[in-house]
Amino acid sequence: MSSSPDTVAREVRRRRTFAIISHPDAGKSTMTEALALHARMISEAGAVHGKAGRKATVSDWMEMEKARGISVSSTALQFNYTPTGLANEDPGSDFEPNVINLVDTPGHADFSEDTYRVLTAVDAAVMLIDAAKGLEPQTLKLFQVCRHRGIPVITVVNKWDRPGQTPLELIDEIAERIGLTPTPLYVPVGIAGDFRGLLDRRSGKYVKFSRTAGGAKIAPEELLDAEQAAAAEGDAWTAAVEESELLSEMGQDHDQELFLAGETSPMIFTSAMLNFGVRQLLEALVELAPPPAGREDVDGKVREVTDPFAAVVFKVQAGMDSSHRDRLAYMRIVSGEFERGMVVTHAQTDRPFATKYAQAVFGRDRSTVDTAYPGDVVGLVNATALAPGDTLYDGPRVEFPPIGSFAPEHFATLRARSAGKYKQFRKAMDQLESEGVVQVLRNDTRGDASPVLAAVGPMQFEVVTARMLAEFTVETDLEPLGYSLARRTDDDSSPELDRQRGVEVFTRTDGALLALFSDKWRLQYIEKEHPDLTLEPLVAAAD
Ligand code: G4P
Repeated sequence: MSSSPDTVAREVRRRRTFAIISHPDAGKSTMTEALALHARMISEAGAVHGKAGRKATVSDWMEMEKARGISVSSTALQFNYTPTGLANEDPGSDFEPNVINLVDTPGHADFSEDTYRVLTAVDAAVMLIDAAKGLEPQTLKLFQVCRHRGIPVITVVNKWDRPGQTPLELIDEIAERIGLTPTPLYVPVGIAGDFRGLLDRRSGKYVKFSRTAGGAKIAPEELLDAEQAAAAEGDAWTAAVEESELLSEMGQDHDQELFLAGETSPMIFTSAMLNFGVRQLLEALVELAPPPAGREDVDGKVREVTDPFAAVVFKVQAGMDSSHRDRLAYMRIVSGEFERGMVVTHAQTDRPFATKYAQAVFGRDRSTVDTAYPGDVVGLVNATALAPGDTLYDGPRVEFPPIGSFAPEHFATLRARSAGKYKQFRKAMDQLESEGVVQVLRNDTRGDASPVLAAVGPMQFEVVTARMLAEFTVETDLEPLGYSLARRTDDDSSPELDRQRGVEVFTRTDGALLALFSDKWRLQYIEKEHPDLTLEPLVAAAD
């Protein structure tokens, strides 16, 4: 029997669903592990170190899955977290811990459209940056999607135990390059490379950290008042206090409304490796990040979290288990209570969908999910009919807007090596496209035998060719094309664009007209010469 709206509302209030966006090597895996340590899911950190073993270039899809392990297969880590001070709450009271869902953005070399799609399933993002490197390209790209979707962002400056920039340099860089105003919740005591603790700007207190052997355990904290802190840390404390005052003078104090509006970003300094600042991050998530909220459907009507069950599929993954070629669809629950076994409706086909095999997946671990609530991520096994963006619901009908496709930057033509395999090739192409593995572009000049594949990351091509072979026994030839940039155009502009050198116009399967350019200089030149042409940047087409 389904729970009452009150139960759902209570479950929603204690949930936080977020993703970490970062550039490879900023410390996302280490931070994930540190969070799991703080949530007491594991008792020692250290398992993710030595990721050399995870790196591999292999062409077989299953091998690729195995070799890349956690970075490809993991999807959502759920854990309970009890904010400090509440842990000893009277067990007889109705106190319940928070439930945190960390949805993994596949990162590393395998940056792909899936990385973006994950951001449609979260309510907040943690932008993790390396103190020495500052903002890096992948972080920037992912941040743009957060901005576009109005996802509030908490900024974490990691590796503060290593020499790097000053807090004010990092703050300026973020403000100038992405127009997001950092509002540090804490400032570090001790320069980068000499991380002693954090000045809590809101209480004025000092959180002093102690190292543990190899950073394997939660770092012990000592809470000191300003006087004790000054005595303990001298100049390092004074410098932190001055920085904090300067930030206040510049108006860079936390403001919840501005944060939720995506204008400011609470900032924290951490060392994921030493487990410094990790508790502070968790508390910020619980205190500041928004709980799951209702979502607008295609008609602009909001499905409230307490309404009957509805969910959006945000990712589909095939071939994760080599013993049987299964296909998992991951849904984010939007409303109501999910109970394994319930028969829901697939809005795109109006057909019933049985949810007998519902799983939580993290790394290679899978466990059965019996109940879940808004904000949670559930993997559905053998969900062949489901594609990213699809809606599942129970009760009153609802259909959420499609996720859309993200701006591709890699282009290649694909053809079946043997003409006799053309039929299978077509079928495979349709299948992979409907799963959202890659975007497919066509035009009259090139015909249908060798469509152009468009991807956010080159690994998407690897996946296509590997699956063509493994599942459809079609050997293919992939030929990279010399384009690196796409703009959305229209019927009026396309004849002129087609006449230009280094430009080609295509129709994507969703009907969008895309003009491809060899490079940004070509685009700039054409924009200058023909200012009347429609050339719109793409982020997520359907928004
Ligand atoms: P990623 O998932 O974002 O790609 O990064 P990952 O956690 O794998 O971390 C990348 C490297 O940075 C690792 O070093 C990791 O130990 C290190 N690292 C992560 N957080 C911190 C931190 O707070 N301080 C310091 N000093 N280093 C950090 P590696 O050399 O690639 O691996 P390993 O030798 O540590 O195994």
